[in-house]
Amino acid sequence: MKFKINNISVITDGEQSSKAMVFIHGFPYDHSMWKKQIDFFSKSYYCISYDVRGFGESDNFDGQHTMEMFVDDLEMVIDEMNLNKPVICGLSMGGYIALRAIERFQTKLSAAILCNTRSQADDNAGRLKRALAIKRINTEGHKNFVKEFITNCFGDYFKVNFNEELQSIIEHSQNFNPKAIKGALLAMLSRTDTTSILETIEIPVLLICGENDNLTPPQVMKEMFHKIKNSEFYEIPLAGHLAPIENHSEVNSAIQKFLKKINY
Ligand code: MLT
Repeated sequence: MKFKINNISVITDGEQSSKAMVFIHGFPYDHSMWKKQIDFFSKSYYCISYDVRGFGESDNFDGQHTMEMFVDDLEMVIDEMNLNKPVICGLSMGGYIALRAIERFQTKLSAAILCNTRSQADDNAGRLKRALAIKRINTEGHKNFVKEFITNCFGDYFKVNFNEELQSIIEHSQNFNPKAIKGALLAMLSRTDTTSILETIEIPVLLICGENDNLTPPQVMKEMFHKIKNSEFYEIPLAGHLAPIENHSEVNSAIQKFLKKINY
C-alpha cells in the first residue's frame, strides 16, 4: 500500500498484524533501494519504507532541510501509524537519521540495524566537500554529481557484474529534484555528532558494513560496535557502501539471524 502522511510518501508491505520494520534510505536514493530486503522480510514482518523529504514521491517542502526534520518525519511515521516499537533499519544518511532517532526516542524502538554509516559528524574537509558539491550543482546541474557520487559508492564487484542495474539506479536518482539533493547535503553537513551517545544505547543494534566500503570503512563501524553494549557487527563480502543492494542475500541473512537472536 502507498499513501502520504503529511506529504511524506509511505509504502507498506506485509501483514499489518506482524511486527514492524521501518526502512530509511541513504543519499541520494529513495525507498526503492530496500526492495530486496522488503521482498524478503515482508513475508514475516510489516515492512514500512518511506521517502525522506524531497526524495521519491515525498514533498520537497521549501527545500531547506535539517537532520532534525528528517528525524521528525521518522517519528511522525511511527506515531501516526501507531507502530508498536518497530525495528528501524537505516543506511548511511538513513543511519544518521536512525542514530539521532535513537538519541531522541530509543524507548519507542525495539532495535536498530545500521548499515554502512557512521556516528561522527562531518569534519571540516567533509563540510567543504559538500559545499563544493552544492556549488557544482548550482553551476552545472545535479546529474553529473549524482552519477559520480553513486558510482563511487559501489564496490568493483557490483560495478563490473551488475553495471546495468547500477546505471538504472543512477538514472532513477538523476530524476530527483536538485533542490532535494542540495537540501539533504545541507542537512548532512550540519548534523550533530552522535558518537557520545553510543555507550548509552540500550536497544540491540546490528551493524552491517560492506568489506569494500570506502565511505564508511569497516574499521569505522567496528569502533561503533565496541562502544554499543548490545551490538553485533557483520562485514559483508563483495560489497561497498550499498551492501543491501550489492550483496542482498548476505545482508538479509545477517538481519534474519539478528532478529531471531533478539526474539523479534
Ligand atoms: C549515503 O549513502 O547516504 C551517503 O553516502 C551519506 C553521506 O554522504 O554522508
